[in-house]
Amino acid sequence: MFKAIEIANDIHWVGALEWNERYIHGFSMPKGSTNNAYLIMDEKITLIDTCMGGLSKELIERISDVVDPADISYIISNHSEKDHAGAISSLIEVAPNAAIVTSMPKGLAILKKYYGEDREFIPVKSGDVLNIGKRDLTFIHTPMVHWPDNMVTYSPTDKILFSNDAFGQFIATSKRFDDEVDVTEICRFAKKYFANIVAPFKKQTLRALDAVDGLDIDMIAPSHGIIWRSHVSDIIKLYRTWCAADPTDSAVVVYSTMYDSTKRLAEAACEAFIQKGLDTRLYDLDISDISDIMTDVMDAKYLAVGSPTHNNTVLPPMGQFLTYLKGLAPKGRTGIAFGSYGWAAAGAKEITETLQKAGYDTPLDTFTCEWNTDKSDENALYDQISALVS
Ligand code: FEO
Repeated sequence: MFKAIEIANDIHWVGALEWNERYIHGFSMPKGSTNNAYLIMDEKITLIDTCMGGLSKELIERISDVVDPADISYIISNHSEKDHAGAISSLIEVAPNAAIVTSMPKGLAILKKYYGEDREFIPVKSGDVLNIGKRDLTFIHTPMVHWPDNMVTYSPTDKILFSNDAFGQFIATSKRFDDEVDVTEICRFAKKYFANIVAPFKKQTLRALDAVDGLDIDMIAPSHGIIWRSHVSDIIKLYRTWCAADPTDSAVVVYSTMYDSTKRLAEAACEAFIQKGLDTRLYDLDISDISDIMTDVMDAKYLAVGSPTHNNTVLPPMGQFLTYLKGLAPKGRTGIAFGSYGWAAAGAKEITETLQKAGYDTPLDTFTCEWNTDKSDENALYDQISALVS
């Protein structure tokens, strides 16, 4: 049994809580996730976004707590990814009179591919306005935040920006607003979301921030997590800071190890950064989560990565990390590769190549150590990093 929550006058949260989901496309969600959807009770009843298809029962029950879904006139699809548009197919069965509002051309193309041509679509351009009674809803395209089809919906009457993925966080909570929870924790979740989802599209995100800059906003209602109403300017400022991509005086050391030789090199690298005064994190990939690591990598001026050679490549957890890094790596940073080997130093060399492909400068030679790491190897890597760090 699911109920709606009124978040503003005649606007209800009718989303779905994923209390026990832990992963989505490589991203760990230790506290679950939320697919937010919003129901506006105006002359034309309007739903903004849906949820994962598997959660449609929850969505429809929450809507039914307020109104018969058959009375919905518009379903606004700000973004066609399945966590927001997946329940459209179930919803149109109980809301057969609803037209689907989507961005043109990208949203329209994706939704037609998902749900066929024989739906009533209202394609909208950036700046288009839809009157639903007392409200004129404005659509602003925000391509690549986080797909080409993305848009946001703004209600000037309520001063609410329905921002979809932007400003979201993967977390499930019983509270809906930023001033009802530990906002420091929420900002940490928002940063992890940015680092793992939005970061490759910083330029586009800055354009989206500029596009909404002139709006009078009392509330940002994203499609994941907590709604911002007491920290609206704070989260916008944080997004601008994260988009600026300036590295901080920090370093991240990431390693996989087989018999601890590479681990000892990682520890030497870590000590070198610490002694230079850098805020430093050391991650063993056997027990660390790659999406947590990427949140630190986003800020780090230096990234040191180590693996022994295994089957003429890196160890499997390192392979996963390097794949993830290639898609998310920040630009203008320094990378360092190291690792032990038995008879072929292929693993660490592969790391150097991947760091370079990801856009890292690699001023040091790949640091390799044959068979067993001894004190002289640790000292040599320590000295090289110490000399490099300004
Ligand atoms: Fe929350 Fe890009 O979907």
